[in-house]
Amino acid sequence: MEVSPRAAMIIASLFEKATGQVLSQERFWRIGTTLTPFCRARGIDSFDQLALTLERSADPELSLDMIDALLNNETSFFRDAMVFSLVADQILPQLAASRQREKRLRLWSAACSTGQEAYSLAMLFADQGKRWDGWKIEILGSDISRSAIQQARGALYTQFEVQRGLPIRQLIAWFDPVLDQGWRAKPALTSLVTFMRHNLLGPPPAGGRFDLILCRNALLYFSPERRHQMLEGLSLALASDGALLLGAGETALGSSSRFVSDPKAQTVYRSTAYAGLSDAA
Ligand SMILES: C[S@@+](CC[C@H](N)C(=O)[O-])C[C@H]1O[C@@H](n2cnc3c(N)ncnc32)[C@H](O)[C@@H]1O
Repeated sequence: MEVSPRAAMIIASLFEKATGQVLSQERFWRIGTTLTPFCRARGIDSFDQLALTLERSADPELSLDMIDALLNNETSFFRDAMVFSLVADQILPQLAASRQREKRLRLWSAACSTGQEAYSLAMLFADQGKRWDGWKIEILGSDISRSAIQQARGALYTQFEVQRGLPIRQLIAWFDPVLDQGWRAKPALTSLVTFMRHNLLGPPPAGGRFDLILCRNALLYFSPERRHQMLEGLSLALASDGALLLGAGETALGSSSRFVSDPKAQTVYRSTAYAGLSDAA
């Protein structure tokens, strides 16, 4: 289906308003490829018709679904396996020592897509069983995509999804087969994780600061100003001695003076104040 410049502008501006992401003119082709099947499935004959419905705010569900369809939800279990080894072998032992009195840990998988990252974190705890006896472990997964959060809450993954990154031992230990549908995470994992819809451009989730935040492969979609805004929000959400993990191709340096990179581990950031450096913007 052809996308007229006017329809593309309306769709892109709605997408930007909802997510903060800019669909520049060079990427308008994405509207055609992603939304043609979306329109066909809903009996919408043209992008002009779609744009008109959106412009009139005639169907809020349609607009939410369209935004979800345009988002890139690429993710997998234990994505970048070395990051999870780093969390299991270095970050969690440090936190276990510093939170020994409270015996409470809060982790945030921000922009978690369909939840694989949050459940991968939960498996680190479940695998260590007794080590965390008596601890209160809270893992929050959040994303702006309504459909992604819906799948994350259902904890149900297809055979294809579990084959991407989930070792067979952990699949058998922590998931139950569901006939003709795939695999569902067991209560041992789901009891550790909650999910919510959340926009990284808004205020951080309530409930206190997080000891560890993973916000991976999301910042790269935003303008420098928005990246700065998101990192400000993440700095408010992070405990003073906590750790922020970004994706392999991402950095907080140059985007925020609130974080410094951890000299011992690439992609790990610490609060500037904690590292004893100037906090000036
Ligand atoms: C490529 S996925 C990364 C998923 C996961 N963090 C990972 O690394 O595997 C990027 C995610 O960012 C989410 N996202 C985009 N804009 C967002 C925003 N403004 N607030 C929260 N999440 C957003 C998308 O819906 C998508 O699920």
